[in-house]
Amino acid sequence: GKDPVQEVCELACIIKKALTEEKRVSTKTSAADLVTETDHLVEDLIISELRKKFPSHRFIAEESTAAGEKCVLTDSPTWIIDPIDGTCNFVHRFPTVAVSIGFAVNKELEFGVIYHCTEERLYTGRRGQGAFCNKQRLRVSKETDLSKALVLTEIGPKRDPDTLKLFFSNMEKLLHAKAHGVRVIGSSTLALCHLASGAADAYYQFGLHCWDLAAATVIIREAGGIVIDTSGEEMAMLIAQAIQTINYGRDDEK
Ligand code: IPD
Repeated sequence: GKDPVQEVCELACIIKKALTEEKRVSTKTSAADLVTETDHLVEDLIISELRKKFPSHRFIAEESTAAGEKCVLTDSPTWIIDPIDGTCNFVHRFPTVAVSIGFAVNKELEFGVIYHCTEERLYTGRRGQGAFCNKQRLRVSKETDLSKALVLTEIGPKRDPDTLKLFFSNMEKLLHAKAHGVRVIGSSTLALCHLASGAADAYYQFGLHCWDLAAATVIIREAGGIVIDTSGEEMAMLIAQAIQTINYGRDDEK
C-alpha cells in the first residue's frame, strides 16, 4: 500500500487546493464555529482509508461528533481525528491550517501526526521515540519565567459576554505578569506544534476538544513539554493559577 506520510500529504493537497476556492460554510455550536464540505470530505477519506486497514479500530472525529456520534474513549485502539484544524482560517484563506491524527490504545496516546497544509511541515510524535518536524528533532523551550515568555492561546467559538470577559481578563493577567507577547494564530494544533518546537514557551486554552489535543499532546510530551488540565508544574502551573476557567464542558459528557 501507500506510505502513510504520502497519504497525509495527499489529503493536505485537497485542503490546499480548496483553500483558494469558493466554499460552502455552515455553522455548528455558534456563529464562529465553522465547517465546510472539505472538513467532511477529508474526515470521510481518513476514516474510510483507516477502516480498510484496521477494521476493528474505533474513531473519534470532529465532524462525526458534530453529527451526533458519541465521543467516548474506550480501551480499544482509537484514532482521534481533526480533518481541518483552523477551519475559520481555511474559510478566510488564512494559510494556517492542519490535519491532525492521534492514536490511543488503552486510553494512552501512542502517536500523533499533524500536517501544516500550506507550509508542508509534518509534525510527528511517538510515545518513547521523540517528536520531529520533517525529520528534525523537536524540543520545547526551557523558559520557566512568565515575564520572559511568548504565550499562545486561541479564542474558542463562544462569543457571549461572560466568556469574552474572562477571555480578555485572562489575557490581561498574563500581560500584567509581563509576558513578552500573547499570540492567537487560529489553529490550536499548529499553536501546539510551535510550542513543541520551542517557537513559543506556553499555551493555554479553554474549550479545546480531544481532536485538537490528541496528536499534539504526544508531540509536546516527546519534545520534553507538559500538557496539563488544571494542575501542573512551573510555568504551566503559574498560568493555570493566574487565569480563570471558562467552562466549555467535556467532549465525553455531551
Ligand atoms: C478549532 C481551532 C480554533 C480553536 C478551537 C478549535 P477547528 O478547531 O483550532 O483555533 O479556538 O478551540 O476547536 O474547529 O478549526 O477544527
